[in-house]
Amino acid sequence: MDKTFRALWVTEQSNQTFSRQIVQRDIDSLPPGEVLIRVHYSSLNYKDALSASGNRGVTRNYPHTPGIDAAGIVAESQSPAFKAGAPVLVTGYDLGMNTSGGYAEYIRVPADWVVPLPDGLSLRESMIYGTAGFTAALSVYQLQKHDITPESGKIAVTGATGGVGSVAVGILAQAGYEVAAVTGKPEAGDFLRGLGAGEVIGREEVDDQSGRAFLKARFAGAVDTVGGNILATLLKSLHYGGVATCCGLVQSSQLNTTVFPFILKSVSLIGIDSVQCSQEVRRLVWNKLATGWKLEQLEELSRECTLEELPDRIDRILEGKLKGRTLVRLAS
Ligand SMILES: NC(=O)c1ccc[n+]([C@@H]2O[C@H](COP(=O)([O-])OP(=O)(O)OC[C@H]3O[C@@H](n4cnc5c(N)ncnc54)[C@H](OP(=O)(O)O)[C@@H]3O)[C@@H](O)[C@H]2O)c1
Repeated sequence: MDKTFRALWVTEQSNQTFSRQIVQRDIDSLPPGEVLIRVHYSSLNYKDALSASGNRGVTRNYPHTPGIDAAGIVAESQSPAFKAGAPVLVTGYDLGMNTSGGYAEYIRVPADWVVPLPDGLSLRESMIYGTAGFTAALSVYQLQKHDITPESGKIAVTGATGGVGSVAVGILAQAGYEVAAVTGKPEAGDFLRGLGAGEVIGREEVDDQSGRAFLKARFAGAVDTVGGNILATLLKSLHYGGVATCCGLVQSSQLNTTVFPFILKSVSLIGIDSVQCSQEVRRLVWNKLATGWKLEQLEELSRECTLEELPDRIDRILEGKLKGRTLVRLAS
């Protein structure tokens, strides 16, 4: 086996700016772990862009190879659970944060991070979903676990053109829910309706400044990806017994609310974490993504890029300008 491989390499400059280059790395420089994986595809998530631009909350030490997602073929394994040649995927845990990540032709990880590729999903399809799609699926899984059915009423999805939001719109619509897609991109109506949104709402419509404890009850549930006042507004806009999931902080990490929706309308707010999520739930949800929740529009949702094109996409996701999912191709 060739001992070197291509990787994105983020380095800190003397003036505390960060630069990104494609370099050759040595397989021996990878961290210890039972499973060496030849990466075929990775994907771009907001968190990757933070890691690739020097955010110490995500990545403490540089130089570093980001990429919180990877799908590929087991090249070597010291674990009886995975044989060489098996198709697998890894998302979350410490991959791409402080462990060398998926923007490289190889990763080496602990066996208990690895998920067998479910039947019905190709390596490429698994990374069109990536962490964002998996998080969207976890959010829908939690709504269902808390008894929000298509009959309960409309579901709001915020950051709807983003990675998590767009997959959530698609899964919910496919599962029979009426979806209200909340977006800051008025021109994205056709894209969102194509994914199955019944209604497209401007972001400002769910960014209440009135200070009231309750607003008109519009939604049975919400998949929130942005946090801040938009999440606070949604909590005030849920039906009695409504459920909101919270996974992101694109608008703000602050949540300024009152207890009234919880104590007077039995509203629930469910936290979503894709990083440490148990293997049991992980495999169950990936299987849903490979079967009943598999999106018909999966290919249309994604744009593919190479390692060389990735730095530009990283800048664009930070500017909130990307739509859908960005797939990163590592293998030729
Ligand atoms: N908890 C977890 O395990 C987990 C996993 C994955 C992601 N996340 C988090 O979830 C969030 C979304 O991730 P993503 O990968 O979907 O990111 P993304 O692709 O960048 O999408 C974020 C979307 O949010 C909207 N947006 C941008 N700026 C905004 C603002 N100032 N106020 C309100 N909305 C804004 C935009 O959609 P519109 O223009 O359509 O509004 C944008 O496309 C991030 O905070 C990410 O860190 C968490």
